[in-house]
Amino acid sequence: MTKYTTIIIGAGAAGMMTAIAAASHGAKHILVVNATPRLGLKILMSGGGRCNITNAKLQYPKFYGASQNAIKKIIKQFPPQKVIDFFEEEGLKTKIEEPWYKYFPVDNKAKSVLDTLLNKLKKLHVQIEYPVVVDEFSFREGVWNVTAQDKQYCCDYLVIASGGFSYPHTGSDGKLWQNLQQMGIKMQKPIPALTPVKTQNILFHKLKGLSLPCQIMVKRQQKTVQQEHNSVLFTHFGLSGPGILNISHWFTQQNTDTTLVLNFLPEYQRDVFEKELMQQPHNTKIVNFLHKFFQRRLGETLVAMSCSLEQTVGQLTKKQRKSLLNNIFAQNFQVTDTLGYKKAEVTSGGVEFSELDLKTMELKNFPQLYVVGEIVNVHGDIGGYNFQWAWSSGWVCGKAI
Ligand code: FDA
Repeated sequence: MTKYTTIIIGAGAAGMMTAIAAASHGAKHILVVNATPRLGLKILMSGGGRCNITNAKLQYPKFYGASQNAIKKIIKQFPPQKVIDFFEEEGLKTKIEEPWYKYFPVDNKAKSVLDTLLNKLKKLHVQIEYPVVVDEFSFREGVWNVTAQDKQYCCDYLVIASGGFSYPHTGSDGKLWQNLQQMGIKMQKPIPALTPVKTQNILFHKLKGLSLPCQIMVKRQQKTVQQEHNSVLFTHFGLSGPGILNISHWFTQQNTDTTLVLNFLPEYQRDVFEKELMQQPHNTKIVNFLHKFFQRRLGETLVAMSCSLEQTVGQLTKKQRKSLLNNIFAQNFQVTDTLGYKKAEVTSGGVEFSELDLKTMELKNFPQLYVVGEIVNVHGDIGGYNFQWAWSSGWVCGKAI
């Protein structure tokens, strides 16, 4: 059995950055193992094949899981600007895209990001073995032992960078979560996050393909627990689009007390809109008035939920008017489920921060065992937040080992 100083399980964004930071700070004899025959599958599929590397205007409330202060402690050690400096120094040109301040490679190719990481690992002589599916790891006879089918490895420092459960064909199937749990390490239950949601509102399913900016509110027991102004896409099963992905972690099958409320006209005050509606000539059809604000398909759906499509302003009863306004400004959606890990960009949950030394990502009760990336109880919004977490946690760990 070959002994390494450091073994990193997982050559995703977090594992590769850990290896780069470790080797750049003088660590020797590092082995990275990865489950799939091709490396960096998630990087390649990210950002629609363009890889949104990070975000120039990171906002800590857009991270979930651990406390914002704790997350900040780690991100600050390798913040977005340092990430970009790293890639630029390695020859990758980057650009910022407004309005969300997302960083992408200039050539819009996720492959360029992956190649930059792989080239750097090569320059640093980091050994990568793949495909190697790790089955288990444990501490025996003063070293960490790693078992992968017919192979055995051991090392002084072991880093678990095996990701979450989403898109399992990338090798990230959550297999090693159980190993950590069996060791008594506290882990938040995994939940698919950044995934489309299924809704019961069948009338809206017919609007598939239509997207618009909305005010999105998640309510639990009458309280708003998250809200944002972002794009929503109607689909044949429910809702998607960046705004919906960002709030999807609130909806698990257990959370039946959670509702989704959409305001389809966030730029308008409800009373101003109502006044404008009532000032229309009496023979104006409601659908024609709504066409000033919405695509006809959506306008017709909103009217059909309140009154007849032929209804004119003059014929609208007070009750119908109230219903129409509610349908536009506070449309309730019953979320029945999400599309789960098959379509989740990340996994929410994972190793709790209370288990970690935040200066190193080492587990407090297991010396020389580290966790980085998605396996830790942090996830963020769409917009480069999740890679930023992977780069920062990986860098902090790599520097320490
Ligand atoms: P990741 O899952 O990437 O890597 C883990 C690695 O460990 C994998 O290579 C896997 O094969 C390996 N592994 C797992 N179990 C193993 C075992 N038992 N033995 C050996 N190896 C094992 N984020 C962002 O910031 N910007 C973006 O544009 C996007 N876009 C995006 C699109 C899509 C479709 C998805 C699915 C995700 C994104 N993300 C994103 C999220 C981002 O991809 C994610 O946060 C990071 O890849 C997480 O990096 P990790 O290295 O932690 O896990």
